[in-house]
Amino acid sequence: MAKRPKNQDPTVSRTGSELVLKLYNALRSMRTAQHDISALREMLETLTRTGEPLTIEIGRDRLFLNDERIEMRFGHTVHRILLNEFKRRQIGKIEFSDLPDTRDLEEFLRTFLVLSEGSQRDGETLQSLLRDREIESIRVERLVTNEVGEELGFTYEKQAYYTRIYFYAIHLLKETFSKVRRGDESPDVSLPRRVARTMVSGYMDSPSIFMGLATTKTNREFLANHSVNVAIYALALGHRLGLSNRFLVDLGLASFFHDIGEIQLLWPDAAKDRDLNKKEWEEVTIHPALGVKTMMNAVGSNGSALSRLWAGIFEHHLRYDLSGFPKLRRKKNISLLGRIIGLADFYDHAARPYGKNRFPCFSSRLLEFIAERSGKDFDPTLAKHFARTLGMFPVGTLCRLDTGDLAIVCSLTEEGTTGDRPWVRILEPAGDNYRGGDLVSLESVSEKTGKYLRSIAEILDPNEFEIDVAEYLIEF
Ligand SMILES: [Fe+2]
Ligand SMILES: [Fe+2]
Repeated sequence: MAKRPKNQDPTVSRTGSELVLKLYNALRSMRTAQHDISALREMLETLTRTGEPLTIEIGRDRLFLNDERIEMRFGHTVHRILLNEFKRRQIGKIEFSDLPDTRDLEEFLRTFLVLSEGSQRDGETLQSLLRDREIESIRVERLVTNEVGEELGFTYEKQAYYTRIYFYAIHLLKETFSKVRRGDESPDVSLPRRVARTMVSGYMDSPSIFMGLATTKTNREFLANHSVNVAIYALALGHRLGLSNRFLVDLGLASFFHDIGEIQLLWPDAAKDRDLNKKEWEEVTIHPALGVKTMMNAVGSNGSALSRLWAGIFEHHLRYDLSGFPKLRRKKNISLLGRIIGLADFYDHAARPYGKNRFPCFSSRLLEFIAERSGKDFDPTLAKHFARTLGMFPVGTLCRLDTGDLAIVCSLTEEGTTGDRPWVRILEPAGDNYRGGDLVSLESVSEKTGKYLRSIAEILDPNEFEIDVAEYLIEF
């Protein structure tokens, strides 16, 4: 592989991101009956006009366009998916020596996809298939790597893998809560701790995927679902604060169990859907203390993790100004872990369906509320970092673009950007409903005018459109 220049040409990087997206969308369309590869072909036409070959190549964890590293920017999910698609087929390089005609390009994409369905996942196989079909404008090279084990580790689809982790965490907590409710045994936190560790590394790898997963808000398994979501939001904030991995694992574990005191309350989960009566509310205020009592018997972890766990449970409803509950007899400092969980807990509750609103609703209004209550309910420094983590348009925000399309925000803000141009999933009308369309970056600009192709024009309430945004964020 050629040596990478250190200074990136932003134009090349942006072109690379566009090409990655168009290749991804073209591959996606080849899986359906649409076969819409025109956008990809148009871009190839522009890029091959110079007469020089065009190459897309795999580096260790990035794709390269003509030896220039393609920055992941907002589209890291697509970028990583495509990177994995290359790796699992053992493809190291694709070279377009000339503009392929539409038939050849379609044939190439079809063959590329077929390889994943059979047992021949090899760049050499793809090259020989292209040769058999007399496609000369496209050439493929095999992936050369010395890190076979690591490469194999990349062969799973991250989206599917992390989705399994997320739902496994919910299942595990549900089981653990049931056992504790029945009084069967002391809560064992060893397996939940391992899941928390996996979520910490997973979040660092693919934060937007985890943020997308946390838009799942079910009432059926309310407590387990809420607890896993709180863990994701808490990890997001903890990661942004630069906290150690060990602290993050403790934070994830404490989030999993922060509401365990609720399992001993008498009213059912359905009460989440309405205002509580006075007696229920009085009961609610004792759940942090009940939770600590339950987890005093916990096994499967060391002392410092358990003491953080107890602090997180006890303090998660204490506000920054020490109002909230439990009522304190004397002033105390709320631990960092407790303050983080308090914010994460608020955010998951605030976005949940409630009363006549049947669908979760994400918007910057939630962040505005947090900002208003900063210094009273929430630690102002943490509140600021949390707002920056979630971005100007939090993952899951339903919006209307200036093109008239409906779209859902599906990427987190990157460091050093204003965050008003995330990646969005376009919603295509399908009968009375919608289906997930293309994933596009709001950073894309028109090649002719240099102006942005799409911008967010309006934030919408999913309840008015009966849209559960999670449905469009979990599947790619
Ligand atoms: Fe709680
Ligand atoms: Fe909670």
